[in-house]
Amino acid sequence: MLIKPAPDIRPSEITPERVYLSRRRFLQSLTAAGLAGGLAGIADAQTVMGVSVIRELDYHPNPRYSTDEAKNTLEEVTGYNNFYEFGTDKGDPARYAGRLRTRPWSVAIEGEAEDTGVFDLEDILAPHTLEERIYRLRCVEAWSMVIPWIGFPLGDLIRRFRPTSRAKYVQFTTLLDPKQMPGQRYPVLDWPYAEGLRMDEAMHPLAILAVGLYGKVMPNQNGAPIRLVVPWKYGFKSIKSIVSIRFTEQRPRSSWERSAPREYGFYANVNPEVDHPRWSQKTERRIGAGSFWEPRQPTRMFNGYADQVASLYSGMDLARNF
Ligand code: MTE
Repeated sequence: MLIKPAPDIRPSEITPERVYLSRRRFLQSLTAAGLAGGLAGIADAQTVMGVSVIRELDYHPNPRYSTDEAKNTLEEVTGYNNFYEFGTDKGDPARYAGRLRTRPWSVAIEGEAEDTGVFDLEDILAPHTLEERIYRLRCVEAWSMVIPWIGFPLGDLIRRFRPTSRAKYVQFTTLLDPKQMPGQRYPVLDWPYAEGLRMDEAMHPLAILAVGLYGKVMPNQNGAPIRLVVPWKYGFKSIKSIVSIRFTEQRPRSSWERSAPREYGFYANVNPEVDHPRWSQKTERRIGAGSFWEPRQPTRMFNGYADQVASLYSGMDLARNF
């Protein structure tokens, strides 16, 4: 079995404000007791694959949302990446992402919400408790990895900023800075990298904002300091190094959709039945030692999360809405 039995995620689990406030008090009490304090003052670095990985984070494992498949190694997770801002070779992000300055960092909350503004990353993160969720990332290029992410539900953040009734979608944007991100000097994509989710997708408890992996602060090549992870969609939805979260009434167009609309759709749900125009999506290759020669494994609908997310798409033709 690839994914643990489906947890049914009830709407009541979408944390109401008062729960979140009591959780915040809980976090504060931990901090007062000197047990938490995971996010502030992240500074002391160690190096993995030539890129700084900063100190350990405080988090609790969330087995309910985790696959029990074998994890990829830290070296694989940080050495084989897609982050076109640093080049299109899988080794380029590990080679070049070290030049990205991830502190200070701010995130703009924009558009159709009651509370908008530009916030320091520490203020964005402060109320949230961190969990580890072991999710598979299934790339559109038909390879996959299993990664122990550290993050918190995107829905918890969205609720804090009180989107209005006009907010139907959420658009995410990556930093635009060709000095730090040399790949942006080339017209590989329509920069800055942008992605979007429908509001109900964004509120789904499986969607997280991740600030770390393998218990450590997010390595630059994996999208430091904050990135999205949407485990039932192809990896390109999981946008890295986010500087803006905008609530919109109209469906935003992602960078991939703008550059190749026939190949990359808005939904990007993992779907073994809908081939990419240039290759099959029926199987996938697990990145890892020797795996190139090992049999490919079948790709599962919604990356194995059909029980939890299929209802979001009921009545939709997923071959058209790919
Ligand atoms: N985000 C930005 N800003 N730029 C990118 O090129 N690549 C995407 C996604 N997020 C990308 C991005 C793709 S195609 C994949 S498969 C995942 O990041 C890879 O995440 P990982 O390198 O952490 O495994």
